[in-house]
Amino acid sequence: MLSVKEQMNMNKKCIDVIKLSVPNKPEYVSVIRLTASGIANRMGFDIEKIEDIKVAISEACTNAITHGICKEEANFNVDFYSHEEKLVISVYDNGKGCLNHNIKTPNLKEPKEGGLGVFIIRSLMDDVEISSNNGKGTVIKMTKYVGDDI
Ligand SMILES: Nc1ncnc2c1ncn2[C@@H]1O[C@H](COP(=O)(O)OP(=O)(O)OP(=O)(O)O)[C@@H](O)[C@H]1O
Ligand SMILES: [Mg+2]
Repeated sequence: MLSVKEQMNMNKKCIDVIKLSVPNKPEYVSVIRLTASGIANRMGFDIEKIEDIKVAISEACTNAITHGICKEEANFNVDFYSHEEKLVISVYDNGKGCLNHNIKTPNLKEPKEGGLGVFIIRSLMDDVEISSNNGKGTVIKMTKYVGDDI
């Protein structure tokens, strides 16, 4: 007889995981964008949501490259968790990190250059969690649901 834990595991929907280690070079952002687009398309996202995911992942990767990693030879990571109803993407680096209060909401009445990336990610994705530690790197986890019922 199956234990309760085994029965619960059998009922769980299978999750496909795709893990990438990406060179710290701006030219790879378009490669990640294309990869995200392919995964989201396969999962059945509509074109509008795929565009949202592409913009959000580009901003997260650009941040890892421009703010996170100092060493040219270092890589950052992008993990895709493909659930039946949602795509969860983690972009993380072991770079400089920052104080969490540096990631603030921009004042749109007095727009300044820069400081919009995280705001854009939060606007386009359904759920966003950012965790950064000075000297230890940054993780941004973002979720997009395939359907509207979140
Ligand atoms: N991966 C990261 N590593 C270290 N600091 C980060 C990282 N991601 C974001 N930050 C910090 O959060 C701030 C806000 O990021 P955000 O993307 O919103 O703005 P920006 O990158 O400064 O400008 P923009 O994205 O509009 O060009 C950054 O200025 C930086 O201080
Ligand atoms: Mg940015």
